[in-house]
Amino acid sequence: MNKKFVIAIDGPAASGKSTTAKQLAKKLKYIYIDTGAMYRASGLCTMLQNVNLNDEAVLKNMLKKISIKIEYAEEGNRIYLNGEDVSERIREADITKLSSQIAVIGMVRRKMVELQRKMGKNGGVIMDGRDIGTVVFPNADFKFFMIADVRTRALRRWKEAKEKGEIIPLKEIEEELIWRDKNDSTREISPLKQAKDAIPVDTSGMTIEEQVQFIYNKIE
Ligand code: DC
Repeated sequence: MNKKFVIAIDGPAASGKSTTAKQLAKKLKYIYIDTGAMYRASGLCTMLQNVNLNDEAVLKNMLKKISIKIEYAEEGNRIYLNGEDVSERIREADITKLSSQIAVIGMVRRKMVELQRKMGKNGGVIMDGRDIGTVVFPNADFKFFMIADVRTRALRRWKEAKEKGEIIPLKEIEEELIWRDKNDSTREISPLKQAKDAIPVDTSGMTIEEQVQFIYNKIE
């Protein structure tokens, strides 16, 4: 597989996108770009700089100066916001919610899309998010749309949290996922939706290996 494809993987939270994309990137020797992390870092930036999301001028100024870098590492990418490693902080619950709130703002989306197109322009990338196949790379070589039922997705998050020593009630996780699905899919700009030419992948009954293999086979 010599051609350097652009592979888009979209879908709701915890549908298996990032785990699959990460492993697939390793297998194909591609770069993995987690665009959700970029919205998370932007959200964190507004919090750290006390930016009122309704104040357009201040937000515009913040976005003009923002630096978001993804450093590729074998054990998982690191995300830097204005030079600071925020990889763990952006996964916390307050930032998860804020990232979905900030993602409805046109000015923020334009900036993120600009950065993402730059990152993917040479191909050889797997990008996951909500609007990669519809907006960021509508001409991507491959588009996948991953889904899974809400219980499966909540259980995945519950297990991930447990591995980190956190016990979060399953119901709380389920409610957060339902809220975020709704917020991400009903916003006016670039809502979460399947591109017409995307291949749907329902990961509810699939193992990670099966998800990776399914996509790998399609690409081959
Ligand atoms: O993939 P994630 O859960 O880390 O994404 C966090 C939030 O960022 C998600 O709720 C919506 C937003 N997002 C987006 O609007 N567009 C993307 N391409 C990626 C994420």
